Amino acid sequence: MDKNKKIYVAGHCGMVGSAVWRGLKSKGYSNLIGKSSRELNLRNQKEVNDFYNLEKPEAVVDAAAKVGGILANKDYPYQFLMENMQIQNNLIDGAFKNSVEKFIFLGSSCIYPKFAPQPLKEDYLLTDSLEPTNECYALAKITGIKACESIKKQFGKDYVSLMPTNLYGYNDNFDLKSSHVIPAMIRKFHEAKVNNHNTVTLWGSGTVKREFLFVDDLATAVVHALENKLPGHLYNVGTGTDVTIKTLAKTIQKIIGHKGNIIWDSSKPDGTPRKLMDVSKIIAMGWRYKTELEQGLKKTYDWFLNNSHNHKENKLN
Ligand SMILES: NC(=O)c1ccc[n+]([C@@H]2O[C@H](COP(=O)([O-])OP(=O)(O)OC[C@H]3O[C@@H](n4cnc5c(N)ncnc54)[C@H](OP(=O)(O)O)[C@@H]3O)[C@@H](O)[C@H]2O)c1
Repeated sequence: MDKNKKIYVAGHCGMVGSAVWRGLKSKGYSNLIGKSSRELNLRNQKEVNDFYNLEKPEAVVDAAAKVGGILANKDYPYQFLMENMQIQNNLIDGAFKNSVEKFIFLGSSCIYPKFAPQPLKEDYLLTDSLEPTNECYALAKITGIKACESIKKQFGKDYVSLMPTNLYGYNDNFDLKSSHVIPAMIRKFHEAKVNNHNTVTLWGSGTVKREFLFVDDLATAVVHALENKLPGHLYNVGTGTDVTIKTLAKTIQKIIGHKGNIIWDSSKPDGTPRKLMDVSKIIAMGWRYKTELEQGLKKTYDWFLNNSHNHKENKLN
């Protein structure tokens, strides 16, 4: 792809969007556009259409979304459904009407049915019921996938959806009220170390297994999808391997240098026993992850130490 191609990264200030921005810059792409939500409210159709008319991007990466944890999804289902549909409808339809040839839509593994077999294959989409706690978010994402699939099928344009597994890395959310498991553990072990607390209490039994991908590796998958015409419309992106939450906790504890005990609070929910993506489709297209978990966790902890002023607050309330 021409390194001067005008690429709009929607949500470029977020964890995923900022990684995509870095990934594109590091490969020499120089004509990038990014707008914060203050500069361009993607929920406003007129603003988005005016933006497309003015800027005429040639490719779009949609990393803008209203995201949140279980509690936020449970308490604000309408916002998760409607705001995400508004953002993606405006971006996808605006791109289509402005002759954007290449569009990358980002979703997540929650689009797959709650009891789908493991590892999760792309074919399992819409074969059974979703996890009720994030059903509205997942439904919004599924409509985005279907919009891109229809544009590809009906008009032959290169609109592709990538579904990343659990991500971690730079610009993650370290707010304990709303963070995912890795930033929450980093923060808890770090605070226990600096305050000389012997014990750290973590949620659940620690026996469930999860897959984690360093966010800069997701960015390489996005760049790969931009640079190549992939035949399918939907691709999982992950490592294809998982670890128990106990192994994850011990690895983070070792990296941080906390010497005490871990208490597992089994009164707290574990969630589903296993959630692993089948990534054979994207591997067959020539992409593979690079960063092993321990290496990615070290980089994330370094970022946490050097960027305490940048830690995200809970923006959902
Ligand atoms: N984090 C994960 O573990 C993970 C895993 C799988 C998939 N994903 C997917 O990756 C995508 C991005 O997630 P993330 O973790 O990067 O989220 P994030 O850090 O919260 O970033 C979301 C971005 O969306 C932008 N945004 C939200 N509402 C907007 C609006 N109305 N107008 C303009 N911009 C708006 C925000 O812009 P401002 O900052 O300017 O407000 C922010 O930059 C989502 O689709 C998510 O499903 C994430």
